[in-house]
Amino acid sequence: MRVLVTGGAGYIGSHTVLRLLRAKHEVLVLDNFSNSSPEALRRVKGLANADFDICEGDARDRGVLNQAFGDFSPEAVIHFAGLKSVGESQEQPLEYHSQNVAGSIELLAAMKRHDCSRLVFSSSATVYGEAQYLPFDEDHPLQPTNPYGRSKFFTEEIIRDWAASWSDVSAVLLRYFNPVGADTSGRIGEDPSGVPNNLLPYIAQVAVGRLAQLTVFGGDYNTRDGTGERDFIHVEDLARAHLAAINYTVKAKGCVAINVGTGAGATVLEMVKGFKKASGREIPYKIAERREGDVARSVAAVSKAERLLRWSAELGLSDMCESTWHWQSSNPNGYADLDQGISG
Ligand code: NAD
Ligand code: WQD
Repeated sequence: MRVLVTGGAGYIGSHTVLRLLRAKHEVLVLDNFSNSSPEALRRVKGLANADFDICEGDARDRGVLNQAFGDFSPEAVIHFAGLKSVGESQEQPLEYHSQNVAGSIELLAAMKRHDCSRLVFSSSATVYGEAQYLPFDEDHPLQPTNPYGRSKFFTEEIIRDWAASWSDVSAVLLRYFNPVGADTSGRIGEDPSGVPNNLLPYIAQVAVGRLAQLTVFGGDYNTRDGTGERDFIHVEDLARAHLAAINYTVKAKGCVAINVGTGAGATVLEMVKGFKKASGREIPYKIAERREGDVARSVAAVSKAERLLRWSAELGLSDMCESTWHWQSSNPNGYADLDQGISG
């Protein structure tokens, strides 16, 4: 299938493009490289031993979209492009709604104009907000607690309205839990700009010596060891879920939300322990106050993904830590280390 991938140079996008190419799909990546490097795509091409076109531009730009749809005639779109930092969204809510909500509206309009009715959208478990019960199933009330989460919630609702207005539409809203890990090659991975906000990239940079110690936000939660518990999902499993979702759009119409997680949680200290084992490095940490807005536990109900997509996670905590360490230790400065050539 011809698949247009917006934000395909980013962390999750690059891993998904690699999978798509290996499954012999044709790909066009649309990315403005605002939070990624062209080097990621160069490496994906090397790993897949396959080529694809890159449209450098803003996914909100009607002219760019018309050109991408006109030249490539995609049969499906995977929409990753957008902003993803909770803290930044509280400082710049309008930018988040412009990028994530208005940008998605432009994309949906372009899909309609060009008669492309299959969509897989990057949503987030953050749409659930505070847990009323756990694990979160897809029917759990949606009460996001920050502008980023609301931008995902609004976009989900808009996609539902779009699907209700056009009977050809087949849309899958994938609600990712906590994506971590890297391709086993160590060639592509998560490359946050500045000091990482998320746990695993932070731990990885402590292990490699870029940061001195981890601050554990809260040691008094009602969890096994008092630290926050999350459903970490390996990016390779997540990439596979996108292929399953693309296949699903071929057989089903309408719009459906599906969790992507493992169904099991790990605490912050369990991740520290796992990373120490994988890297053989000490991870100095101190336990501090809770981070504002954090919840104690977040775990996915996964039966809908199993039932509809015939997908379930295969990789565990040691795979997540080992692949992150392989990526981090071979690229201590992320894609800024460009001198290693493509080893595939
Ligand atoms: P990322 O920042 O690595 O990737 C996003 C990509 O989109 C980048 O390559 C960036 O350059 C591009 N982009 C951003 N705005 C654009 C625009 N206006 N036009 C064109 N390209 C643009 O992020 P990621 O972690 O790969 O996340 C991908 C998607 O998944 C995002 O929508 C994010 O909100 C969602 N998501 C991520 C997580 C996570 O923890 N990583 C969890 C849940 C959902
Ligand atoms: C995980 C746990 C922290 C950093 C965020 C977004 C969510 C989604 C995924 C996009 C928590 C603890 C963290 C640190 C720590 N993204 N922690 N020290 O907050 O579950 O989810 O990323 O959609 O929307 O909110 O992920 O990795 O930031 O935190 O102790 O330096 O690690 O308190 O318990 P989170 P995270």
